[in-house]
Amino acid sequence: MVQIEQIYPSLTWRIRQETMYPDQSLDFVKLEDDFDGIHFGLYVNHHLTGVVSLFQNEHNYQFRKLAILPHQQGKGFGTALLNYILNFCKIQNATSIWCNARVNAKEFYAKFDFSEMNQTFTKNEIHYLIMELQF
Ligand SMILES: CC(C)(COP(=O)(O)OP(=O)(O)OC[C@H]1O[C@@H](n2cnc3c(N)ncnc32)[C@H](O)[C@@H]1OP(=O)(O)O)[C@@H](O)C(=O)NCCC(=O)NCCS
Repeated sequence: MVQIEQIYPSLTWRIRQETMYPDQSLDFVKLEDDFDGIHFGLYVNHHLTGVVSLFQNEHNYQFRKLAILPHQQGKGFGTALLNYILNFCKIQNATSIWCNARVNAKEFYAKFDFSEMNQTFTKNEIHYLIMELQF
């Protein structure tokens, strides 16, 4: 059974850390503006398995830290969570949504028609590019 619901910011931290920065501390994955964001969790049989965080700037949204626990990747859960927030943004009358995508995940976002914005950067030795979707 798969369920997606809005969750407290602090619930995202363990999944972010285990999935995206397994060699770092829990504090490392906390965002300064976490308490200004809207956070969603995907539960598989009542176990928190994936998270994503949304940050609003007028009609534009940024999503950050989309993460599905490693042993549950490749089963459609990332797709389900991303589709959920895309629908959420549309309901909120968003005009666009963007993310700093890890370069090695850009094909995943391309499946949702996100476009590459020609801006790249490197942080903590991870390469990123900005990807955006207009509604
Ligand atoms: C990227 C991530 C969120 C995708 O979630 P997922 O549940 O594994 O993905 P899904 O099972 O929904 O995959 C959907 C499709 O995207 C593809 N895909 C998944 N991850 C991909 C990746 N990193 N790069 C390219 N394609 C990817 C799948 O092969 C699948 O393709 P198909 O439809 O042709 O079979 C997840 O793998 C993850 O948490 N990765 C580590 C953290 C990370 O990189 N987060 C993104 C930061 S920008």
